[in-house]
Amino acid sequence: MGRIFPFGFESHLSFYLAVYVLTLVMHVFLMSYVLAGSLWLAWATLFPGGGLIPRAKQPLAAILRDWMPFALSGAITAGVAPLLFVQILYRHQFYTANLILGWRWMVVIPVLVTAFYLLYVVKSRTVSHWSVPARLGLSVSIASCFLFVAFCWTANHLLGLNPTTWPEAYRSGNTVRSSVALMLRLVMWVAGTFPALSILASWQLRGAETCAVPSTTAGGESDRTTLIRLEHRRLGTVSIAGLTLAFACATGYWTTLEPSVQTQLVGSIGLPWLLMVVASGLFQVIVWLLQLQRPCICSRWLSAITIVMVMMLIGTASLREIVRLSQADLDQLAASTRAAAAVGGFELFIVFTMLNAVLIFWCIRMVRSAVHRR
Ligand code: HEM
Repeated sequence: MGRIFPFGFESHLSFYLAVYVLTLVMHVFLMSYVLAGSLWLAWATLFPGGGLIPRAKQPLAAILRDWMPFALSGAITAGVAPLLFVQILYRHQFYTANLILGWRWMVVIPVLVTAFYLLYVVKSRTVSHWSVPARLGLSVSIASCFLFVAFCWTANHLLGLNPTTWPEAYRSGNTVRSSVALMLRLVMWVAGTFPALSILASWQLRGAETCAVPSTTAGGESDRTTLIRLEHRRLGTVSIAGLTLAFACATGYWTTLEPSVQTQLVGSIGLPWLLMVVASGLFQVIVWLLQLQRPCICSRWLSAITIVMVMMLIGTASLREIVRLSQADLDQLAASTRAAAAVGGFELFIVFTMLNAVLIFWCIRMVRSAVHRR
């Protein structure tokens, strides 16, 4: 593994690694909105704040409640493509990990279905009249469901990384080789979802701000604009905190890796991505710090950090793959991707991806126009 990832492999393998990373980034972006958004709603319900309007009724919480069911369906739809590619690339590892986890893996589906249903319950008008403990119970249950799903994906990934642990894991039922590595990786993912949420929600708040018509009524729209600007600042603060914690956990996780894996990450295959991830993280922290000084967030800088966030996710997903590739049988991967490429059908995949993208875009436009007509 000499050249920068995903190059330096057989063309089919490089191709499937590249499309896997790009499709996973889409999943992680939308999954971040759901995971961090649910944690934000639980926090806003638990800590209503001292202002006239409790946090759970402020613009950001209202936007998150409105859009989370849509974002979850987007995260699930965007999860299908990487799920296909991970089975082409790492069939043996992925299936074996699923089988060893057994019911602990299968339970992800009922948990996701329950969380999906509860997202519609939490946005209903009836719930807004519930008592605080009842609403808190609901929002904490939703956040726990998504945290559990993230835990399952992380446990499955780590189990698939190391075939030597499978016999013992199957025999003993203990599927976690290192709970420290698991916790560091999971907290890294959870902390890393907040910068992504901050960017998506900032665009939504900007949309809400431009629609906010100034009014003279006491506690009216002008208060709304002030609240929106306060929410922007909160998002900037959690983004900086999330980036800092994610980098700290990533550094901790690095120490749990084998020296041979660390060598690959700082070698020619990984170093450019490592530098890109660190530079993108620093850029985002600096921009958010600058934005915190301003009365409201500037679209040009928000566009800049959106692009840099995508670059950081591509870099993170690439480093994640280098860790897996440095412990995998490359000949086996080359053989399975060569076989998959011979099957064909990729054109059909592209057609349906385009169709899905158009349908999702149309849904967003429809919902937005309905929201603005309200
Ligand atoms: C809101 C629910 C979900 C959350 C919070 C979530 C979270 C995550 C996380 C944290 C990872 C990275 C695991 C790691 O590298 O340690 C991941 C990977 C992944 N997720 Fe999701 N996920 C969700 C739903 C889904 C769904 C419904 C699908 C499929 C339809 C999916 C497909 C994938 C795939 C294919 C990977 C990569 C697996 C691998 O490379 O080993 N996810 N997810």
